[in-house]
This record gives sequence, structure tokens and C-alpha cells, in this order.
Amino acid sequence: MEQVPFLNLSRQYQQIQADVHREWDQVLSQTAFAGGPFVTRFEEAFARYCQSEYAAGVNTGTSALHLAMLALGIGPGDEVIVPGNTFVATAWGVSYCGATPVFVDCDEYHNLDPDATEQAITKQTKAIAGVHLYGQPCKLDELRVIANRHNLYLIEDAAQAHGALYKGRRAGSIGDIAAFSFYPGKNLGAYGEGGGITTNQKEWIDHIYRLRNHGSDQRYYHEEIGYNMRMDGLQAAVLSIKLNHLDEWNDGRRLVASNYLNNINNPGVTMPKVLDGTVPVWHLFVVQTADRERMMRHLLDKGVQSALHYPVPCHLQKAYAFLGYKEGDLPRSEALASTCVSLPMFAELTQEEQERVIDAVNSYNA
Ligand SMILES: Cc1ncc(COP(=O)(O)O)c(C=O)c1O
Repeated sequence: MEQVPFLNLSRQYQQIQADVHREWDQVLSQTAFAGGPFVTRFEEAFARYCQSEYAAGVNTGTSALHLAMLALGIGPGDEVIVPGNTFVATAWGVSYCGATPVFVDCDEYHNLDPDATEQAITKQTKAIAGVHLYGQPCKLDELRVIANRHNLYLIEDAAQAHGALYKGRRAGSIGDIAAFSFYPGKNLGAYGEGGGITTNQKEWIDHIYRLRNHGSDQRYYHEEIGYNMRMDGLQAAVLSIKLNHLDEWNDGRRLVASNYLNNINNPGVTMPKVLDGTVPVWHLFVVQTADRERMMRHLLDKGVQSALHYPVPCHLQKAYAFLGYKEGDLPRSEALASTCVSLPMFAELTQEEQERVIDAVNSYNA
């Protein structure tokens, strides 16, 4: 019997194949490769979708974080609060600006803990980077109150949360500025690399448009040292097509998630919790168990693939050893890193595959 895949992107591609070929033909005939009208069209649609005034398309989610932080004026001497439990690129953005990430522990929803955030604030703190990890919005209201109290910016890393809702509003429309990734496996994924920024501040988005384009508003006139971080036309065309399906695909993920939540009942496996007032988009479905290597082996024996997000928290990554963190500094993030297992999660998982996942987890003797 075929394995239940952790992720299968070709099933989604089959649904939109004809549209992608038609649009790519347009991009190719217009030779609109780097930036250009397809990118502008996607930016307008994505801003509308995210309930934000403006959006910028860039080459990766990592660049989106970097440019968002540059636009806020973050630089050497500044500190930015980042969850220990995130993909490390949230911290890269801070480091690329010459600032220092300050890693903070997570709450029971696996996202930035507001109390620990407030305790970590110093005179150098310039911003809080809340991540909507696994597609679950973090506690934005609490973080906003703290940010306002200390005169800090609130950044949303929405790389895993396209379309998620926090108290009825879209992820990416609530903080001062937000960064998205369109890496292929994301809920809204390109057919290559891509990233995006949303904000309501015209001044910041104009700065980002310039920074991503060699620091230039007018060709061959460079106002400042910039970067080449433009989105390419082929990716923008795919993203515009996929944006029309995003709600339906996120609904599909929610159905898989409720099937898992209603039917996995292994007392040795801790299920994810949903924060009141949020509608997550289940980029990942992360459970916890004491001996996760054994559980992953059991799942594989039953023909079910699984994955890890993430096995090492940021503060213990070798790349950040120079900051001097040690084991025990962020106990919740560390416990999660050693017990997490991500189950198959994408909209096109068949009913039969979902049942195989549920049976495999329930039959695991924890
Ligand atoms: C939470 C988070 N932040 C940032 C990124 C970086 O995005 P990218 O891979 O597009 O550079 C990712 C995805 O990889 C992510 O999951």
C-alpha cells in the first residue's frame, strides 16, 4: 500500500494546471520576468485579501522579514523579541539588520508568550516579532498592549498563516507590518521561491519597493544601498491564481484538522489547542508525545509519513551560540522541540488517508 504522504503538492497542481499554463504563457509572451505587471496585480489582490492597505512581493519570506525590519528602522544596537519556537528565518531578519534577536519562550499554544515577552524588554528593545506558527495566530491583542506600553513595533511573521483570522481580522493586518513566505509548501505557495509584506503605512511600503529594487525608484539612479529582492513574474502569476483558491484550500485543511481533533484519542499523544477568537489555517498539525522517535517509527510502519517542526529551538542553534543561551533557558520551547511530531496535513488528503493517520496514531502504544 502506498504511504500516506506528509505533503503532496502535485494533487493541488492538477486542479490549476490549465490556469497556470495559460498565465505563464502570458508572462513569457510579455517577457515580464522580474517585477512588472503580474507582480503589481498580485500585490493588489494580496493586500485586499489580507485586509491591508499595501502589499509588496519579494523573492523569499526571509527577505520579507529583513525588508520589513529595515523599513521600521531596526539596526545595530537594537533588540527584537523573537519566539524561540519558530523557523530560524524570523531571527535571520533581525540579524541581517545588525540587531540582536532576544529569544522568548512560547505559551501553551506554541506561540510567543506575552508575559515572558514583557519580561524580556530592555532599553534596547525596538520591536516584538510575533509568529503565527503552524497557522495558529499568536496572542496579538496582548502583544499589542505590551508593544504600545513600551513604544515598540509589532511585527507579524505570517509565513505559515495566510488567511488565518484573529478576532475576525486577517493575519498580517493587525501588527504594524507583516511578512509572508510563499515557499512551495506554504498554504499559499509559489512554484519556486517567494515572499510578501503587508502594512498600512505608505512610507514603509515605498521604502520596501525601493530597497528590493537596488535602492532605486528610477532606473540607474540609486537613492541608497539596496538589494535585489524582487518577486518574479512567473511566481506572481501562480500566486494570483492560487489566491483565488486559498479559502477553499484552507477550509480543506480545517476539515482534516477537525477530523484529527475529533478522532485521535490516544492518551499518550497531546493534541494542539486552538486559541479562542482565532481561526487557524493549519499549515502544520503538530502533536506531542514523550518518545517521538518511537512514535514516528510506528507511524512509518503503518505507512504514515510524519515530520518535525522544529527539532532545535532557535536559541540553541549553533548559529546563535555566540548569544550565550543554554539549555533550560526556554523550557517550553525545548520540551516542544523534543516531543513534537507533525502529522500529514494538506487539503487534498483523502478520507481514507486521514483514517489511516488516525488509526496509526491511535494504535501507538505510548
Ligand atoms: C515562520 C517562518 N518564518 C520565515 C520563513 C522564511 O520564509 P522563506 O523560506 O520563504 O524564506 C518561514 C518559511 O520557511 C517560516 O516558516
